[in-house]
Amino acid sequence: MKITKAEFICSNTRVDLCPQEAIPEYAFIGRSNVGKSSLINMLVERKKLAKTSSTPGKTRLINHFKINDQWFLCDLPGYGYAKVSKKERESFALMIEKYATQRSNLVCFFVLIDARIPPQQLDLDFIEWLGDSNLPFVIVFTKIDKINQTGKSKNLELLKAELLQSWEELPMIFETSAVKGTGKEQVMGFIEETNLKLV
Ligand code: GTP
Ligand code: MG
Repeated sequence: MKITKAEFICSNTRVDLCPQEAIPEYAFIGRSNVGKSSLINMLVERKKLAKTSSTPGKTRLINHFKINDQWFLCDLPGYGYAKVSKKERESFALMIEKYATQRSNLVCFFVLIDARIPPQQLDLDFIEWLGDSNLPFVIVFTKIDKINQTGKSKNLELLKAELLQSWEELPMIFETSAVKGTGKEQVMGFIEETNLKLV
């Protein structure tokens, strides 16, 4: 997909204040610091569209970006970051839950998982919750430039084994590096195909 336009629309704490346009929307979610904002920038070829930071807890709002005047990317706060207060963690969780269940143009979640570590309970719980809530999702392994092939494959197999305990079929799993641009064609190809199916 050629990116002709990528613009920041707005940031919100409330789903009812998000843009009302009924165009397809893809949301990026995952633990804090997993690389959601970086991946968005890599995919749309804009270095500073979504704000990134080496310190976890950077994205604190629901951020909407409109791509090619045709669809939205949504950058969400990370879940489960231990260093923000319990109250703040709960408010992020509630914000995400309301967004996920009330955003009617939401097509699919991209659940980002750090390729460098074995499956974390928090990620598995979130995926379980998406399933229970009938919310479509795909999985994205991030930061694959930071792990060797053997380590990545091992974590991938562990993740698949965990998923197969509750799912009959595995979801789509993309492998990405925001630093090297790996996985861009695959992820954007998926979005393009999905958009076409929706017309
Ligand atoms: P929050 O908004 O805090 O939830 O984090 P986030 O998931 O949006 O992560 P962000 O994109 O801000 O990236 C966190 C850190 O990881 C930054 O220092 C990025 O430069 C780094 N990072 C993100 N993606 C990659 C990647 O693919 N490879 C490498 N090596 N570093 C990455
Ligand atoms: Mg972020």
